Amino acid sequence: MNFKFSERISTLQPSAIREILKVTQDPTVISFAAGNPAPESFPAAEMAEIAAEIFANDAASALQYGVSEGYNPLRTLTAKRMKEKYNVGRTFDDTLITSGGQQVIEMLTKVLVNEGDVILCEMPSFIGALNAFRSYNAKLIGIPMDDDGMDLEVLERTLQTTKNVKFIYTIPTFQNPSGHVMSLARRKKLLELAETYNVLILEDSPYFELRFAGEYVPPIKSLDETGRVIFSGSYSKVLSPGMRIGFCIAHKDLVAKLTVAKQVSDVHTNLFFQMIAARFLERHDLDAHIAKICTLYGSRAQLMCDLIDEKFDGKVRYVRPTGGLFLWCSLPDGYDAMDFCRKTGEKKVVAVPGSSFSVDEHEVTPTFRMNYSLPSEDQIRTGIDLMADVLKDYVK
Ligand SMILES: Cc1ncc(COP(=O)(O)O)c(C=O)c1O
Repeated sequence: MNFKFSERISTLQPSAIREILKVTQDPTVISFAAGNPAPESFPAAEMAEIAAEIFANDAASALQYGVSEGYNPLRTLTAKRMKEKYNVGRTFDDTLITSGGQQVIEMLTKVLVNEGDVILCEMPSFIGALNAFRSYNAKLIGIPMDDDGMDLEVLERTLQTTKNVKFIYTIPTFQNPSGHVMSLARRKKLLELAETYNVLILEDSPYFELRFAGEYVPPIKSLDETGRVIFSGSYSKVLSPGMRIGFCIAHKDLVAKLTVAKQVSDVHTNLFFQMIAARFLERHDLDAHIAKICTLYGSRAQLMCDLIDEKFDGKVRYVRPTGGLFLWCSLPDGYDAMDFCRKTGEKKVVAVPGSSFSVDEHEVTPTFRMNYSLPSEDQIRTGIDLMADVLKDYVK
């Protein structure tokens, strides 16, 4: 069939990274490419008990339609925890439960962005968000970053010279893919710039609780006294991504529109899993659970970094992460990480080339992303050995 796809979708190209990731379906391949949590981190036994109890005592509620705003106990517990622990949410804000953080990004774009409107995003950035923006024909402008987050001088110049900027998209804590954390000073300045130039900020923060080193930096939303910041959170990385539960805390007028968009999109988030998540929060200590995940990821990150230091002969630069799931690496200038990742794929170990996270998908870059949350310690050891083997001849 010769399908005529909509202009919105036909601009989305299947990315070259797929070809590389295809090899991860082979079980003998070691993947440093995924963004998946460690399966050991899932509280499966606790959830099995809760699930059985829901079906024994409250099956009708779990199997019935629910409200689009979200299962009320989960909404309330989420809002309360975010306010008490992180000072996120004011009286003008409201909370919406979504089908993952991805849905916040997609629906916010649907609600705010007309074709050709501009979204400013970090360079590099999360591919799922970039593709959501592209699917609404938004114009993306990338703002470079350093270790402290977005370059705010470039951002301000861009704001001065660009019309129709709808929002600034940032992942300020343990950024995907770079792992960077935006400093508090920059968070404050970013908010000031957003006020001055009257634009919104989408703060996407699915990793912010996964800190295993360094000092806590408060969410930008916790500094927001006017309703300019939309906070997107997720239970994917702290409970389970398969549940598909995320949340949005934003000004109530915006949440009301997002709720209409959600009705159109999927009516409501899976009620059974919302009930499981709510009961988990009521009966178990989520903070203690997260602390265990942080210990696990901290030790895997350390192992990966130590092995890189030992075996890569200084050929790959990176900054030791203080949290999150990723290590952002760079070959020497002039090398193409896409080609390097293809070569490592042939040796059965895969990482993601940096071009996959670029506003310009055809960019040639020496950067690549490594994930340390999913592979076991043995896989990290073997995978780094295999990569070191490729590097030996690849970078002279
Ligand atoms: C930066 C970022 N935002 C949002 C998401 C979406 O996560 P989910 O939809 O599972 O909550 C991800 C997933 O990897 C991510 O890396």
